[in-house]
Amino acid sequence: MKILVLNGPNLNLLGSREPEVYGSDTLADLERMLFRWGDDLGMDVETKHSNHEGEMIDAIQASDASGIVLNAAALTHTSRALGDAIRARAIPTVEVHISNIKEREPWRSVSLVSEACARTIYGRGLIGYRDALRHLKHRFEVPATSVRYGSHNSSFGDLRGEGDHLFVLVHGGFWRQEWESDTMESLAVDLSRRGHQTWNLEYRRLGDGGGWPGSFHDVLTALDFVPQLKAPASKITVIGHSAGAHMAMWAVPRASTVIDKVAALAPVTDLDDLARSNRFGVAEARSLLDAGARSVPDPGRIHTLLIHGTEDRHVPYAESLSFGNRLGLELTPTNTGHFELLDPTQPYWDQLVDSL
Ligand code: DQA
Repeated sequence: MKILVLNGPNLNLLGSREPEVYGSDTLADLERMLFRWGDDLGMDVETKHSNHEGEMIDAIQASDASGIVLNAAALTHTSRALGDAIRARAIPTVEVHISNIKEREPWRSVSLVSEACARTIYGRGLIGYRDALRHLKHRFEVPATSVRYGSHNSSFGDLRGEGDHLFVLVHGGFWRQEWESDTMESLAVDLSRRGHQTWNLEYRRLGDGGGWPGSFHDVLTALDFVPQLKAPASKITVIGHSAGAHMAMWAVPRASTVIDKVAALAPVTDLDDLARSNRFGVAEARSLLDAGARSVPDPGRIHTLLIHGTEDRHVPYAESLSFGNRLGLELTPTNTGHFELLDPTQPYWDQLVDSL
């Protein structure tokens, strides 16, 4: 499967250009990473860079790739012609930005290409390109249908697979905008390959109506919506990661839909502790608490399993240890960090899915 990675104006200066915004890796470094990620994913990556709008349009028009990863750089904010080129060719395209365009000058948060794109990934540094490749692979391998549970842009979930057992997935990312449901796709794709149905939720996040109570209520609304999904399921499991696991545990006992089990992967379980720390997510925890969120979720009587990496640097393992002890919940330690739990090739995953 061939993928064109197209980088626009000034990205040839990566490494020396505003390193505090774009990092110190050069375009050549990025291209090396892209080829490696492509190899890992079984994708044939072709890279192109141009400082010129017309050349970028020509590259899209001439491309024989199955998918495109596009960082249109500043042309993102000015070029309707690039958006039209993507529409005209209808090659699934993921828009990528290294920086967080939603948290910089207001004009950068306007993209004239995003409507034509399958997804936009931003603010994750160069890893965003890897995530874009992964997203394209997932789309091609196990296509999803988007099902809305509300009217906000983010009130939807990607439905995949069939089967009697439905897994609802709630992604993490400390309620920040740049972390989205694509981070749970590897698990969703694996579960649907195993013959299960999956609904991978998006929800409002901080800065766009989310946080407390917006994000929490979205997860609850989505769970209440489950009986309206096309295929009925006789068993429902909710899997949340990190902040998503916090919200899953909050929402399940409140939902009108009966949830059989919750698997909380590296859950955030103590907002007070996070708010006092110097860890990633401190500002978000403070904002949630200021808005009235409770520090500790309580899954009530729902069968809840905790899985936590002992090497986790984002949410300390000790948090699940004391949370599990207090609530009498089963805790499985894994020999991993925070993000490895999103990888279905990790040994813990087979065991967990069997136990669900
Ligand atoms: C960029 C963001 C754009 O606003 C900027 O003009 C760029 C790079 C990014 O990758 O973060 O050149 O696309």
